[in-house]
Amino acid sequence: MDERTFEPATVAWGGDAVEIIDQTRLPERLEVLRLASVDAVVDAIRRLAVRGAPAIGGCGALGMVVGLDEERPASAGDARAVLRRLAATIGAARPTAVNLTWAVERVREAAEREAATRQVTPAAIRQRALDEALRIIDEDREACRRIGEHGRAELAAATTILTHCNTGRLATLGWGTALGVVYAKAAAGEPVRVYACEARPLLQGARLTAWELVQAGIDVTLIADSAAAALLHGGRIDAVVVGADRIAANGDTANKIGTFSLALAARHAGVPFYSAAPTSTFDLATPSGEAIEIELRSADEVRTFRGRPSAPEGVNVWNPAFDVTPHELIAGWITELGVIRPPFREIARAATAGTASRG
Ligand code: MRU
Repeated sequence: MDERTFEPATVAWGGDAVEIIDQTRLPERLEVLRLASVDAVVDAIRRLAVRGAPAIGGCGALGMVVGLDEERPASAGDARAVLRRLAATIGAARPTAVNLTWAVERVREAAEREAATRQVTPAAIRQRALDEALRIIDEDREACRRIGEHGRAELAAATTILTHCNTGRLATLGWGTALGVVYAKAAAGEPVRVYACEARPLLQGARLTAWELVQAGIDVTLIADSAAAALLHGGRIDAVVVGADRIAANGDTANKIGTFSLALAARHAGVPFYSAAPTSTFDLATPSGEAIEIELRSADEVRTFRGRPSAPEGVNVWNPAFDVTPHELIAGWITELGVIRPPFREIARAATAGTASRG
């Protein structure tokens, strides 16, 4: 098992367009979609053709280059204005995963720094934007590998892991975060089995996690979300490991809707609950979970099931895409820098400044 051999890549640069696996087609079809305009990039992120916090960050970063190619700024000054507009447009495609704004801002800043140098051409600015986007992708691949290794050490005694949504190769630019821990265990020849929640309403667990793990030959059992508390209570789960879309300064963690219920059930059952995420998911400027914007999605995602009505037409629906798990329910945050244990705030600040005790 190797984190570099997943073909086609979830997000890749195709020379003049972003290439993504169209995740709305899985598990029936594995199709690559070319995104050759900013509109196409934003649309793909919004309708979850590409999804998962690090993956939308990578797609958004490459989308900045697509935007420069579309707008063809004539001067360095024009390029700066275009970069700002693109970062605002792409960064607003989805609100909760901080990796998206983090990635487009990183590309904007790098390209703007280039634009500030003397006699720079728009072509050189575009090259700098592309280099930065590709660097973000490489760094996430390496972060996933490290998360996997730190998680493997932390969870050496755990064989049966319960997870939620999809946090693997389809959600990141490497082999995943929570699923990275699973892949690292499998790669080391250690026994590992996964229980995956289906993740209603859009079934990222059923359609994507189950697909990924079956492809990788890893033992996976799919459960309805509502079966999780009974499973945890039954004593068969050694640890819950999930991903994250945004981690506030106090450790409150936003992730796919249903994560909070899992954390409560895990606490009741005495099962440790971990969040696995790269530090690009930290938002230390947001003090606590209350300040995290939670994306509300279309009512039809709940009123219908794969295109057919599953509820009375027009019934009221509340459809948040994410919830926030309070930090006190989390045993540790598995990051590329090591496992951060509560209290999160001071340790996260130190870790991102490069001074935390590792592991
Ligand atoms: O709505 P989605 O599918 O983008 O939600 C994804 C999640 O909640 C993941 O758990 C999170 O982005 C972490 S991916 C490593």
